[in-house]
Amino acid sequence: MLTQSADNSVMIQNRNSIPIVSIDELDSNNVLVNERFKQILLTGFFYLKIPDESYNEIKTLKLFIETFGKRDEVKNEKGLLEAGYINQKKSQAESFLAERGDWNYLEEKQIYPVGVANLANVMANLGSKILVKALNVLNIPRSKWSKLTGKLSDNKGWYILNCNNFKANKSGIGLGPHKDFGYVTLVYNEKEGLEAKIKGEWVPIPPKEGHFIVNFGDLFERAINDTTKLVAIEHQVVHQNQNRISAVLFLDGAMDEPVYKYNKETKKAEEIYSTHKEYLQAMVEGLWGDGDF
Ligand SMILES: [Fe+2]
Repeated sequence: MLTQSADNSVMIQNRNSIPIVSIDELDSNNVLVNERFKQILLTGFFYLKIPDESYNEIKTLKLFIETFGKRDEVKNEKGLLEAGYINQKKSQAESFLAERGDWNYLEEKQIYPVGVANLANVMANLGSKILVKALNVLNIPRSKWSKLTGKLSDNKGWYILNCNNFKANKSGIGLGPHKDFGYVTLVYNEKEGLEAKIKGEWVPIPPKEGHFIVNFGDLFERAINDTTKLVAIEHQVVHQNQNRISAVLFLDGAMDEPVYKYNKETKKAEEIYSTHKEYLQAMVEGLWGDGDF
């Protein structure tokens, strides 16, 4: 259930009030469905039903995440902004990131098990549907979509699959407080730990069986440029006493494309960063200094 607060925004009140969206609703053009989706853009987090045909691939991906930290060939793939293995120093997460152009290659090299690339593409396509639905219900002119999303609305964005294994034997926070950088994020996890900052309070966002957790990123909030319409919510993962996995698909703009914000008065897109890469570098530096989180 969504609640209207005093300042007219729609809030997640507690762990039981996170909205659920079906894929049919994403495809629908029904006025009531669109009105509800408009409200959901302000909650910042929602659950999305996982397609039945993806369950086996999720099991495969889960097995990869539980074991990749023990494999040297995975650990030898290093990097941060492009792809690779990172053992975070300040948090419990051990991560393996890869961009869309590398998913098939990683399967061919038998680093990813077969099925992961397809699952990542399914998640990317769902994220694109969410993006387009949001732009539609917010009445952003179609001619501005490509600029405002760094070509993500043309399926030419930057797509990253991030596999996290939170290690109980590491100290510190699970994952420090942050807003996601991009436009839309889909998360699969099975254990508690994720929290969202709502009106200054950390509210648990528990996993829901058979569902992804979806949230919006900082660039989408900047692009829409109206926090009474769409918000990116700060979140964190609290310290984990048991190992915990998550699979995260980030939808970002193409790195060489400029970053724009929408001006609702002039109905024009105004440039705020000369490239997505420049924005990303500024954010990583500002948030984590040395790039470690
Ligand atoms: Fe995040």
